[in-house]
Amino acid sequence: EEEEEEEEEVSPKDFVATLAAREGWSQPLVQYKKYWFRPGLLERILLVRQAFVPRADDIILATQPKCGTTWIKALAFTITNRSRHGLDDDHPLLTRHPQHVVPFIEIPGAGADHPDIHALPSPRLLATHMPMSLLPPGTRSVGCRVVYLCRDPKDALVSRLHFENKVFKGANLSMDGAFGMFCEGFSPYGPFWDHCLEYWRASVARPDNVLFLKYEEIKSDPVQVVRKLAEFLGVPLTEEEESAGVARAVVRLCSFEKLTSLQVNQVGGVRHSESVHVSNSVFYRKGVVGDWANHMSHEMGDKLDRIVQHKLDGSGLVF
Ligand code: A3P
Repeated sequence: EEEEEEEEEVSPKDFVATLAAREGWSQPLVQYKKYWFRPGLLERILLVRQAFVPRADDIILATQPKCGTTWIKALAFTITNRSRHGLDDDHPLLTRHPQHVVPFIEIPGAGADHPDIHALPSPRLLATHMPMSLLPPGTRSVGCRVVYLCRDPKDALVSRLHFENKVFKGANLSMDGAFGMFCEGFSPYGPFWDHCLEYWRASVARPDNVLFLKYEEIKSDPVQVVRKLAEFLGVPLTEEEESAGVARAVVRLCSFEKLTSLQVNQVGGVRHSESVHVSNSVFYRKGVVGDWANHMSHEMGDKLDRIVQHKLDGSGLVF
């Protein structure tokens, strides 16, 4: 309570400027209510907490970066828009990047064609990397539905390392360095486990509002996840759709293979600043489960597993 008041007395910009930055990742991070953010982003989150007006039928796709945001955006977009666009030759995903068809609440202009989220027609499909405890308070009280996607932390870390070294000019992070920071809970939007745990607990307490998914689960049975998603989002597959193989068609359209074959996902990108360029292709690397073993030792893998198990102990959530 007190902290909230303190934060409101000054502008988000001035407030963020009072926080000590810690170096290590390609950009310094500041800590707010146990989570680590780039300062500019925390400022946006604080602004959004004041200005975002949630609607009861908003759907929020929440992830930590590198846990499959692009994939869940593609899947949720395709499922919720299928009566409008079908799944045919003129589908928007054939010419637009999944990251661009679903805007982030807290990241303006993350895509060249990002609309003003306040002007979007209902029901809105929105994305966020915010921890659940920092979502604008109204999102819970009006009953927005939230889909959370997480991933084996070892694979998320390896994916993050590659992303940082590609996106931030001059970044040259080592696996050892990134591993040490990640294990301490010091990572963008981290501690990784706390971010997962908040959404996990909410999904247990309010299953109609929060759906908790894992990257590995989509990989192993994507058709079943499409059904589950459609159901949760209030647009279950009809019998006719089932017999027409719609779930399979959605999976195919959103697959790594299909998306990476499209020009829109191979060329172009968004320049955020002189030193930050996010190319459209950077969101696709390998798209597999278990690639961590090619980048860190088994001892490192075991160590991270033990840390995460300890942090999640008793919650019912396991990786
Ligand atoms: P890897 O680096 O392990 O390959 P995010 O979208 O949250 O930034 O996550 C990116 C990760 O998801 C990358 O993981 C990327 O390859 C993978 N990914 C992107 N699109 C995917 C898809 N359609 N299916 C499966 N994985 C996908």
